[in-house]
Amino acid sequence: MTTRVIKNISELTTNDPFLGVGVTGRLHDAALVLDDERVLWVGPNAEAPAADEMIDAHDSAVIPGFVDSHTHLVFAGERSEEFEARMNGAPYDGGGISSTVASTRAASSEELRAATEKRLGELRAGGVTTVEIKSGYALTLDGESRLIDIANEFSDEVTFLGAHVVPPEYVSDREAYVDLVRGPMLEACAPKSKWADVFCDRGAFDVDESRAILTAAKSAGLQLRVHGNQLGATGGVALAVELDAASVDHCTYLSDDDIDRLRASKTVATLLPGADFSTRADYSSARRLRDRGAVVALATDCNPGTSYVTSMGFVLAIAVRDMQMDFDDALWSATRGGAAALRRDDVGHLGIGARADVVILDAPRAAHLAYRPGASIVHRVIGAA
Ligand code: NIG
Ligand code: FE
Repeated sequence: MTTRVIKNISELTTNDPFLGVGVTGRLHDAALVLDDERVLWVGPNAEAPAADEMIDAHDSAVIPGFVDSHTHLVFAGERSEEFEARMNGAPYDGGGISSTVASTRAASSEELRAATEKRLGELRAGGVTTVEIKSGYALTLDGESRLIDIANEFSDEVTFLGAHVVPPEYVSDREAYVDLVRGPMLEACAPKSKWADVFCDRGAFDVDESRAILTAAKSAGLQLRVHGNQLGATGGVALAVELDAASVDHCTYLSDDDIDRLRASKTVATLLPGADFSTRADYSSARRLRDRGAVVALATDCNPGTSYVTSMGFVLAIAVRDMQMDFDDALWSATRGGAAALRRDDVGHLGIGARADVVILDAPRAAHLAYRPGASIVHRVIGAA
């Protein structure tokens, strides 16, 4: 096991309030000691212990690796024309999903693997060290099982999303598709998944269908997450809280009752600014959630339809500019908040014993991530993804 000391850190975000100031557990003029797996020591630069290797941060900021708790990385196909049409006023109704389903079904596993690896490389280059990956673009038993296998090659946080939409061949018999998803498809996918998710919204699955699928998934040993309240106040948040889902994602439309439900629960509200951006939706107000006591995560939602976004810096910039988040709250939500949305305590922070997932920036303060949108200011990424 090799130990490493990162010295000359101008601004260190630990997200551990016992180690530093505020929600981000901030220290200045700091150092950090790691071994291959864990954080061993955090403190003032002048007191840093010796280690096998020294990394000089050259008075730059250091943050925990981002935890991207919501992606759909395994897909094939091309939908940029749909994006262009939306920018010119066309609405988003989920209809384009069937185009990605057709391309993904037709792609070889090798093609899907290579495409996933490339997208993951982009995420990692922007500082992501933990990533959740969903299935959901095959919508057949064998196809979903194949996407889950590929996702497992890249992450331990794999989500079965057989209930993304009803595929074209089942439109005249939705009930049969719901039965397939909560029956044989779940049986094939549950043993190799950690999570189950349902797109509970207009044009996808209603609350009763979603409840039936999620309840079956829970009985099969999966933990739950929900796509909810993206296209309307359609009951996804209430269902997620009812079933103790770890997270309800999108939350573009939220009533005060929804926020009260979230506050009284362990369900995290995951906001996906990239999806609101690419569908020209109104941004949800993160401040409204935070002020009423709900826990907020930020994620990319990387997918070919609503958010072909692989930059957490871009997500932070929108959160700060258009969702009324303080930068430090946004940074917390993209790291420790993402970890909470995955019910993880070992990532998203740099407390003693946390996983050694560290991002060294080429900037004196982490706020440059939002202040300089579009610039590549991630200098070095240490740790998994
Ligand atoms: O998270 N909303 C549902 N699913 C994806 C988009 C899927 C697509 O349009 O391909 C999302 O936004
Ligand atoms: Fe999504």
